[in-house]
Amino acid sequence: MEKKENNLMEKIVSLCKRRGFIFPGSEIYGGLAGTYDWGHFGVALKNNIKQSWWKKFVDNRRDMYGIDAAILMNSKVWEATGHVANFADSLDGKQFNTMLKTEVGAKKEEVAVSYLRPETAQGMFVNFKNTVDAFHPKLPFGMAQIGKVFRNEIAPRDFLFRQREFEQMEVEYFTKEEDWGKYFEYWKGEMLDWMEEVGIDMSKIHELEIPDKDRAHYSSRTIDFEFEYPFGQKELFGLAYRTDFDLKNHKLDYIDEEKGDKIIPHVIEPTFGVDRAALALLLSAYCEDEKGGEVRAYLKFKPSIAPVICAVSPLLKNKPELVEYANTKIFAPLKAEFGRVIWDDNGNIGKRYRRQDEIGTPFCIVVDFDTLTDDTVTVRDRDTGEQERIKIENLKNYIREKI
Ligand code: GAP
Repeated sequence: MEKKENNLMEKIVSLCKRRGFIFPGSEIYGGLAGTYDWGHFGVALKNNIKQSWWKKFVDNRRDMYGIDAAILMNSKVWEATGHVANFADSLDGKQFNTMLKTEVGAKKEEVAVSYLRPETAQGMFVNFKNTVDAFHPKLPFGMAQIGKVFRNEIAPRDFLFRQREFEQMEVEYFTKEEDWGKYFEYWKGEMLDWMEEVGIDMSKIHELEIPDKDRAHYSSRTIDFEFEYPFGQKELFGLAYRTDFDLKNHKLDYIDEEKGDKIIPHVIEPTFGVDRAALALLLSAYCEDEKGGEVRAYLKFKPSIAPVICAVSPLLKNKPELVEYANTKIFAPLKAEFGRVIWDDNGNIGKRYRRQDEIGTPFCIVVDFDTLTDDTVTVRDRDTGEQERIKIENLKNYIREKI
């Protein structure tokens, strides 16, 4: 297997459009810079990324509380956190605030300035008290959120890398001040584990300690996890020690129920961009090799992340007995069980394999004439191209074990 770095971004962008992963936003009107629309396979990829994250960081833990806060927030939130004063980038020597401003309310006297949130984090901080009152968690505990954020980036570029509308997956982990170093190290490990679990090429990940002058205004220590993109080694995800900056600014605190002490917890924040995760996964998965004298492009996604887990085909589409069998005995039950299953009977079998390889489908199941007599099907492996015959009764388990 050989990876081609030449024009890799062009190849990925074109594959994403051609195969229904990701389209330029508002394309028929000339586009809107920094926005992308996700097609059927792209949505599936993104959902798998988010589900895997939520499972690891929320469902599999006992100390995490999920939240889905409103994107529109009272502008006092952003005044209190310093975003109105500091969330800026330089443009022609001047500071330019990159929060997207909007107006809420219809009647003139009721109109209020609001901002589309530039990070999901504040949706968690402003619900810190609600969460503590509802669930009575003991320190350390965390809050987690996945959602859209908006930034009026001066120069959106590099496909999904720098957009004006994107999604974040963030944890705010609340600890006692003296424990911050311990949990910073702990979360570094958790972040690396997840990256490996979803299938990011770990040989392309590098940790960068961000120097004082370059850190966000709220952070006392930040590590960026950088990825080697074709356009350079740049930030993928970040880990920040936000101290008690946010809770203090929102005038929030925590009462230790055993001791009765009032303290302001300190915060460790692992943050992940969903879109950069998708980009890193596409770049990690893209491979080219030669099959039957032709160059084949395929996405080596892990089965848990692949938009389609398996494709089902009758060997010949003009043989009703094969079509009927494939449809009722294979496709329908697998579709009901796994959802991410597609029917593909277009063109010859070689073409179908190439099409599935290109979108990263790990297994292609084919019903042929032997199936009708021995109730077995061929299952072809995307990466090796090898086929094995599997008894139909074992098919669901075979797939389940790989997810
Ligand atoms: N709450 C902390 C925070 O928002 P950030 O480093 O500004 O930190 C977090 O953003 C993550 O969001 C980044 O690590 C990156 O994955 C993603 N991200 C940031 N800006 C982005 C943009 N313009 N387009 C796509 N993803 C972006």
